[in-house]
Amino acid sequence: MQIKIAPSILSADFSRMGEAVALCERSGADLIHCDVMDGSFVAPITFGGQMVKNIRPATRLPLDVHLMIEHPQTQIKFFAEAGADIITVHYEACSKISPSYLRETLELIRSYGIKCGAVVNPDVPVERLFPVFDLCDMVLLMSVFPGYGGQKFIEGVLDKIRAARQYAISCGKPELDIEVDGGINAHTARLVTEAGANVLVAGSALFSAPDFAEAVRELRGQ
Ligand code: DX5
Ligand code: ZN
Repeated sequence: MQIKIAPSILSADFSRMGEAVALCERSGADLIHCDVMDGSFVAPITFGGQMVKNIRPATRLPLDVHLMIEHPQTQIKFFAEAGADIITVHYEACSKISPSYLRETLELIRSYGIKCGAVVNPDVPVERLFPVFDLCDMVLLMSVFPGYGGQKFIEGVLDKIRAARQYAISCGKPELDIEVDGGINAHTARLVTEAGANVLVAGSALFSAPDFAEAVRELRGQ
C-alpha cells in the first residue's frame, strides 16, 4: 500500500502556521494532521475550528483533524464547516457517553460529506473499534498517550496494527487507512508499516529535522 505521511502541526510554530503548512506540502507530505485538544480529555488546549479555517487556504493537502476532546458531537459542525477533510474521534471519549455515541458521531461526520475515523489509546484494545470498521475511512491507533508531542513510541501498538489490518481484510476493506500517531521516526516508521499501517503521523521527527523533505522521504523508507 502507498504510505502517506501526515505531519502534525502541533510541533510547528503556532505564530507561523501558514508557512508550516506550505512547508509540509512542498516537502511531499500527503495530509496535514491537526491535533485538537480541549484541556479535559487531555490536559493541554491547542486550537479549534478557527485554526483549521485559517490554514485551509494555505494548502491543497487534505486536513486530517484528530479530535482529542470530550463530547465530540458538539464540535463536528465547526470543523466540517472550517474545511476538514477527515475527522477522527476517540473511542474513550465516546464510550463514556453511551454505547451508540461513537457510531452516531461517525455518521454525523459523514453527513457533512467528509471522511471519518475512530481512534484508540495505547491501553485500549483495537477490537473495541471492530464494530465501526464498516463506517470508518481510517482507524487511528495511538502509539503514545495523547496530549504531547515528542514522547516515546509504545511498541504494543504493533500487534494492534496487525490485528486491525487482518480484520479489515476479513471485512472486505483491505485498503482501509490505518494511521499511527506518536513517536514516529525513521526506525519506528519501518516497524509500523511492516505491521500493516499506511498513514504515519509525525511531529517532532519532521519539525526538528534539518531538512524537512529529506525527513519525509526517510519516513517513507525512501
Ligand atoms: C499526541 C498527538 C500527536 C503528536 C505526535 O497527542 O496526537 O499527533 O503531535 O507528535 P510526535 O511525532 O512528536 O510524537
Ligand atoms: Zn494526533
